[in-house]
Amino acid sequence: MQPAQHRTTLTRFLIEERRRYPQASGDFNSLILSVALACKSIAREVAFGALGNMPSAAAGGVNVQGEVQKPMDVLSNEAFLRITEWGGHLAGMASEEMETPYQIPAHYPKGRYLLVFDPLDGSSNIDVNVSVGSIFSVLRAPDGEGAATEQDFLQPGTGQVAAGYAIYGPATMLVLTVGNGVNGFTLDPNLGEFMLTHPDLQVPADTREFAINASNSRFWEAPVKQYVDECMAGRTGPRGEDFNMRWIASMVAEAHRILMRGGVFLYPRDSKDPARPGRLRLLYEANPIAFIMEQAGGRASTGRQPIMAVQPGSLHQRIGVIFGSRNEVERIERYHNTPQAVDLPNPLFNERSLFRVPG
Ligand code: AHG
Ligand code: MN
Ligand code: MN
Repeated sequence: MQPAQHRTTLTRFLIEERRRYPQASGDFNSLILSVALACKSIAREVAFGALGNMPSAAAGGVNVQGEVQKPMDVLSNEAFLRITEWGGHLAGMASEEMETPYQIPAHYPKGRYLLVFDPLDGSSNIDVNVSVGSIFSVLRAPDGEGAATEQDFLQPGTGQVAAGYAIYGPATMLVLTVGNGVNGFTLDPNLGEFMLTHPDLQVPADTREFAINASNSRFWEAPVKQYVDECMAGRTGPRGEDFNMRWIASMVAEAHRILMRGGVFLYPRDSKDPARPGRLRLLYEANPIAFIMEQAGGRASTGRQPIMAVQPGSLHQRIGVIFGSRNEVERIERYHNTPQAVDLPNPLFNERSLFRVPG
């Protein structure tokens, strides 16, 4: 193992980045370091598993989306709030676990940024000791002294100042973009510091690996069905190559695998529930992962447009998500944009059908 003194810590990385912008105040760096501390505290809690202080899984409530909150969802949300609210960098926060924007308590100064997060992604995996993570996105707060409103957060992903995730796997890692490439840091458990181990991550442009929840196949739209059918047909099909499939049910873990070795992830818009155009949430799941993918040379799309171009309509809006290796995502976009080629096999679920959901 390389001695710690030869490595770049997250703190050093941020300070050296900031030197390139002499007018920067340092606020942004303290915000990222606070987020990193929240992630370290969640990593410790997760690592204790059934030995931890958590009440039984049945003790959780229900969040704004009608999903059962696990105690670790609630605790992770608290970690983000408590560790970042006091620093004076934030004008407000929004989270998967809170219906409305979180206001910075009056006894703390307010700042220029908004923090949006999914405090624990893939939390159903906690009970089975499979990797989970946290996802965050930093936006600029509109000018003004008043309370943070939902409207303030409804910015397209192109407005993100930074985005990242922590993955609580065999090792804890923090993957971060500040709009200048993507860097991966591994938590040194001896020092409690994130160390730069994966500089300038790049998603390979091609892949033979895809990830989708195939139990939803009867609800897929025709372009998705066509794409998956062609992958499944393997060497004897139109792609002429065998494909491999993975599904972890932790988007963070899937995104991390794709950053490490390529691949494509789909949780597309489908007809399962017309009230839900997709499973994943735009502001704190899709946008930050899209920013990371694009900064690493990959691509992120709804199938019809870049995810980061979508104008959000509400805080907890869901959206179809396709991301990963550039050439594969572009192929899936082509299938969506040439409906005549794919309309015939499944007329009930095509672009012009009865079941079409806007978005
Ligand atoms: P969360 O735990 O924050 O609600 O997110 C879970 C998400 C995502 O991480 C994962 O890709 C997807 O839900 C899994 O969906 P299925 O249950 O359909 O597999
Ligand atoms: Mn999630
Ligand atoms: Mn979550």
